[in-house]
Amino acid sequence: MKLWIRIVIQSLVLGAFCGAPSFAQSEDGRRVYHGVAPSALDDAELTFAENGYALPARSFPCVSCHGEFGSGRPERGTVPPDLSRAALTKPYEMEAERGRIRGPYDLTSFKRAVRLGIDSSGNKLDETMPRYDLSDEVLTELWDYLSVVRTSADPGISETDLKILFVTGEKIGTEKIERLLAARVSQINSGGGIHGRVLDFVVTQSLEDDELAQDAFLILSLVPVSEAQRSQRPVIQIKSNHLNGPANVFSLVSGAQEQAAALRLFAAREFMAELHLGDNCEDTPESFVLFVMEAPCANAFSSEATLFFTQTAFDSLEPGLRHEIQSKTYLALGADAGRLSMQGKAAFSRFASVHKIPMDEDVFDLANAYTLATLSIDILMRSGRKLSTSEFVAQLEQVSSYIGGVTPPLSFGPNRRVGNTGSLVIALGPSANEIASSSEWIALPTQ
Ligand code: HEC
Repeated sequence: MKLWIRIVIQSLVLGAFCGAPSFAQSEDGRRVYHGVAPSALDDAELTFAENGYALPARSFPCVSCHGEFGSGRPERGTVPPDLSRAALTKPYEMEAERGRIRGPYDLTSFKRAVRLGIDSSGNKLDETMPRYDLSDEVLTELWDYLSVVRTSADPGISETDLKILFVTGEKIGTEKIERLLAARVSQINSGGGIHGRVLDFVVTQSLEDDELAQDAFLILSLVPVSEAQRSQRPVIQIKSNHLNGPANVFSLVSGAQEQAAALRLFAAREFMAELHLGDNCEDTPESFVLFVMEAPCANAFSSEATLFFTQTAFDSLEPGLRHEIQSKTYLALGADAGRLSMQGKAAFSRFASVHKIPMDEDVFDLANAYTLATLSIDILMRSGRKLSTSEFVAQLEQVSSYIGGVTPPLSFGPNRRVGNTGSLVIALGPSANEIASSSEWIALPTQ
């Protein structure tokens, strides 16, 4: 095995992320370049001419003239020069706009250009290039960032590396997931990576108080990720925790909202009845009552009403209480074992046996982790070398009947964020403990 692959895998197995220090280093530079607050631009000033008025630097981030990828945004006849490190350090003289001839930049002459408007060969830069009062440290961070600016404006991606954050939740913990992802990633990285980039998974148990999300290209999660936790990064999670929306949060299977919708459809068809939302500790005078997030207190169970639970609400019910339910009861589940993709299941079994992944009590979490990793690798492959968040999302939106993972077939789209919106509705036995004879797959109409 090549040494660098071993190092990446070891760093994953040990739980430390040392594959690509460039992400952390260039992150501060990225914020300055793109004017993403908070950044060093917030407290800095600039002038447009030597003795001009001082203006707040945050109104003029580099991106506004030099462009998203550093290659310049033409404006009123002038094209600001290419700022990528490759262009700034070409080892020969370059002729810039208006005949200015300059040699290669280094860190020192770069600092002088940004602070004083003097290029690498001592020429005065045009006054459309502002002079910034930025510190040595900040300019060094910017200089670092210019080595990756051409690849992407997004965090977690450089010329050579691609970083994905994986959130496990408290139940399974990081160790087993790290081992599974290291096995998954070794296949990819030994075959040349994702279009030439080494894929690194950073594994964490939760996103609470965690800045890891900000540095990741993509977040994969076994537990639902909230809007605040994701730092505007795209997310693929298992169960949806929101209604379909335009945000870049994708879910593999239906969560409480879709399950509730499936129960409503089922009730309408089966009983010609409309469901009433249950309040968890009130009596249930209505005859068809739906519990979406929380289970009812014990006093609801003696009622005559027919009860409907999403999986979340049912899971929040104390196991002891389940025996006390006298009423007719229905439960919606996000997935149906009978509908899992045969191909995905077989691929996961092969993968697990080759890599000695234990098929123990955590097998569902492991299968889910395998599915998230496999789906995202496929989409990254389809996105090509010029990867960006918007390209990744656009590719994911084109996924139709995907069968590479251990789930029912998945489809996404511009208005579709849940891969499989159907739910399995099952009738529970008299003491809500065993599954009764009937169960039915309810597919939701999709946009
Ligand atoms: C308002 C537009 C504008 C903004 C904002 C701006 N620049 Fe410039 N920059 C220019 C223009 C125009 C030139 C070319 C000047 C010339 O050729 O005389 C230039 C030239 C440069 C050069 C010299 C490149 C060469 O090939 O000699 C460097 C380095 C540079 N800018 C860095 C930055 C950095 C770093 C930032 C952000 C902190 C920034 N610029 C923000 C317009 C801008």
